[in-house]
Amino acid sequence: MPCLPVRLVLVTLPVLIIMAADRSNAADPNAGKTKFLQVCATCHGNTGLGDGPASTAYNPRPKNLQTTELNDKQLHNVIANGGPAEGLSPLMLGWKAMLKPEEIDNIIAYLRKLGKQAQEKKNKKSE
Ligand code: HEC
Repeated sequence: MPCLPVRLVLVTLPVLIIMAADRSNAADPNAGKTKFLQVCATCHGNTGLGDGPASTAYNPRPKNLQTTELNDKQLHNVIANGGPAEGLSPLMLGWKAMLKPEEIDNIIAYLRKLGKQAQEKKNKKSE
């Protein structure tokens, strides 16, 4: 069976590539938190609830980012390119001049962590 090793490589290689890509994408929610507090919290609040000190000055108000319905790709798009990139208000600016793609992914990881914690709390209450 001379073909077997070749096949094995063909099968395992994509898996290895996917795993490697996955690892390099591992976002860091703690680094995300630091950036979020620096850049986003004035509007969105420290935990992304949309209750930052500047939030009342805006119409529409900054969103609750813990319960956002956007997926990760859409979140990345809005944060990098601003609200209009996903049909939202231009009051939400794009931050790609200031934040690297990895930093945006870290922020998304922070928001997802907060969202998950809030959901778990809610589930516990209704038990
Ligand atoms: C100057 C105030 C302000 C700052 C600073 C700000 N935002 Fe926003 N953001 C808004 C407003 C206002 C909206 C609502 C836009 C709309 O609903 O049309 C919004 C919407 C969003 C949305 C869309 C959420 C959804 O579910 O529709 C995301 C994601 C978001 N902001 C992330 C961020 C992140 C991350 C940062 C920091 C890098 C940030 N914002 C900084 C004002 C701000």
